[in-house]
Formats: sequence, structure tokens, C-alpha cells
Amino acid sequence: MRLALFASGSGSNVQAIIDAVQAGKLNVELVALFCDQAGARVIERAEQAGIDTLVLAPQDCPSRQAWEEAIVAFLKERKVELIVLAGFMRILGEPLLEAYPEAIVNIHPSLLPAFPGRQGIQDAYEAGVAETGVTIHWVDAGIDTGEIIVQEKVRIEADWSLDDLAQAIHQVEHRLYPATLQEIIEERRED
Ligand code: GAR
Repeated sequence: MRLALFASGSGSNVQAIIDAVQAGKLNVELVALFCDQAGARVIERAEQAGIDTLVLAPQDCPSRQAWEEAIVAFLKERKVELIVLAGFMRILGEPLLEAYPEAIVNIHPSLLPAFPGRQGIQDAYEAGVAETGVTIHWVDAGIDTGEIIVQEKVRIEADWSLDDLAQAIHQVEHRLYPATLQEIIEERRED
């Protein structure tokens, strides 16, 4: 299975996926990384792992459509079969969704449908809920909508800071994402 990673920031989830592949726990080929933010830390991580990288912001293209078409061309050249969003902070439009139907996965740091958007961890913390968690789901045209593949709960202890919660969420993400991707590709092989 030829996989592309999409990320916008630090890329700790991308790193967890790279590590799982290198450890033989995730049997995919990481053939491409797409990043929409020049200077993002994730670009270095991809370069160190020898993954072909495209960095392109929508504002560098004549239109949003042209931006997505350039990404699709990059992916098609590398025969990408599955797209994995890992901290990718933009909504996908028609060119990508039509080129990759039912082949785009996302991770979100809350128990969706609760706390969608860019600040899932902070929003749950500030709401004072007793538990939050991590969701992995298929991507559709909505914001963090799409069919849920798996969720894992994280209890928020009374004495936790926001940073404590963020660390607990990331620990779950770094274990759950590679393991879930392995399950997805095994299921697809059986089909
Ligand atoms: C992760 O917590 C991921 O779940 C979240 O961004 C973080 C990226 O961290 N994604 C979203 O909020 C998507 N709506 P990373 O760059 O260190 O992997």
C-alpha cells in the first residue's frame, strides 16, 4: 500500500508513523509527504526519512482549485493509494475528495462529534468535561465529520494542566494511529 502523509506543523504523528514503518509494525510504503506550511518542523522529519515532499500553500497558487490539482498531480505521479492526514489543518475540497474516494483518513484530538476544529484539546479542557480522547475517521467534505473508524477515551484528572492533557492525548495518538492504519491496510488487502 502506497501512502501519502499530509501535515501542517510539528509532525509528531508523522514521526510515530515513520517509526512504526521502520520498526516493521506498519507495512506501508511512505511515498509522499504534503505540507501546506513552509518552515514546518514536519518537513525536516520527512527529509530525514527520505520521503518525497511537496510544500505548497494555497496562496502560492492562482486558485484553491489549482492548489488541490497540483497536490493531486504530485500524489498520482507517486501512485499514492491512501492519504493520511496527521495534523493537517485545512479542509479538503472536490479535486482531492474525488481523486481519493474513501481513501483519506484523519486523526482528531477529541471524541468527535464533540470539539471539532483546530483546538480540540483546549476546547475540551476549557469546557471542563471529565473525559475527552482521540478519534480516527474517514474524511468527507465537512470539518471533522466523516465515518468514525475508532475512538479512544482519555480521562481528564482533576489536577491536570492543559499541557498534561495535551501530552496524554498525543501519547494515545502516537500508539493508536499506526496500529489503526495497519488494521485498515490489512482489511483492504482482504477485500
Ligand atoms: C494532533 O493532535 C492532531 O490530532 C491534531 O493536530 C495535532 C498535530 O500534532 N489535528 C487536528 O486538530 C485536526 N483537526 P503533530 O503535528 O505533532 O502530529
